[in-house]
Amino acid sequence: MKIYKTKTYKDMSRKAANILSAQVILKPDCVLGLATGSTPIGTYDQLVEWYEKGDLDFSEVKTVNLDEYRGLTRTDDQSYYYFMHSHLFDRVNIRPENTNVPDGMAENPDAECARYEALIQSMGGVDIQLLGIGHNGHIGFNEPGESFAKETHCVNLTERTIEANKRFFATADDVPKQAISMGIKTIMRARKILLIASGEDKADIMAQALLGPVVPEVPASILQMHDDVVVVADEAALSKIP
Ligand code: F6R
Repeated sequence: MKIYKTKTYKDMSRKAANILSAQVILKPDCVLGLATGSTPIGTYDQLVEWYEKGDLDFSEVKTVNLDEYRGLTRTDDQSYYYFMHSHLFDRVNIRPENTNVPDGMAENPDAECARYEALIQSMGGVDIQLLGIGHNGHIGFNEPGESFAKETHCVNLTERTIEANKRFFATADDVPKQAISMGIKTIMRARKILLIASGEDKADIMAQALLGPVVPEVPASILQMHDDVVVVADEAALSKIP
C-alpha cells in the first residue's frame, strides 16, 4: 500500500486526479470505477480543468459507479446518477453510453445487481477504482459486518450512514433506506484501488482501516489485502497514523 500525505484537500484532489489522469493517458479505453460523496468533488473538478486545457481525453473511457440509492430517479438531484452527470460526465467528452451507474429504480433489484456485476465483468473489470471512506469504515455502501464475499447487492443503510447523508436531504426521513452497491468482492477485483480521504473526522477510521485488524466490522480494512492500493489523504485524515 502506498500512502501519499497532502497538506490540504485541494492537494489531495490534485494528486488523486493525477493518478486517474495517468490511467486515462496510459490506457485511453480504460474502465474507471467511480465514487460519489463530498470527497471526490475536488478530484472531478481537477479532471474537468485538465480536460478543458486539452490535456485529457475521455472519448474512449468507460466508467462504472460504486453505488446508487434505491428509489431515487435519475433526475432527482440527490441521486448518484445526477451527481456524476453534474460533477463530471456532463463536463467532459465522455460518451454517455460509456457511463454506468446502478439503476436505483429497477423493479427487480436482485436482477439489477446481477446485471451490473455481469456488466463489470463484460467490460473486462475495473482498471482503477476510486473510493471514499465512511466514518464507520464503509466503502461503497458496504456497511460494517457485511460479508467480504459479496458482489453487487442490495443494502439496508445503517442509522449512522442515514444520519451522515441527511445533510443532503430536507429531513432524515427523506434519505433512502436502501441502496445498490458493488460488494467488497467486486471492489477487490479492481486492478488498482485509489482511496481518498480528507479531514480530521476521518482520522480515526483511516487509522483503523489501514493499521487495524482486517475485519468485516471495518469494511475498508480489507484493502490491506489488495496488492495495489494507493491512499491519497490530507494531513488531517492521516493525523492518527504515526
Ligand atoms: C459514494 C460511496 C461512499 C462514500 C463515503 C464517504 O459513492 O460509495 O462510500 O465514499 O460515504 O463519503 P464522503 O466523501 O461524503 O465523506
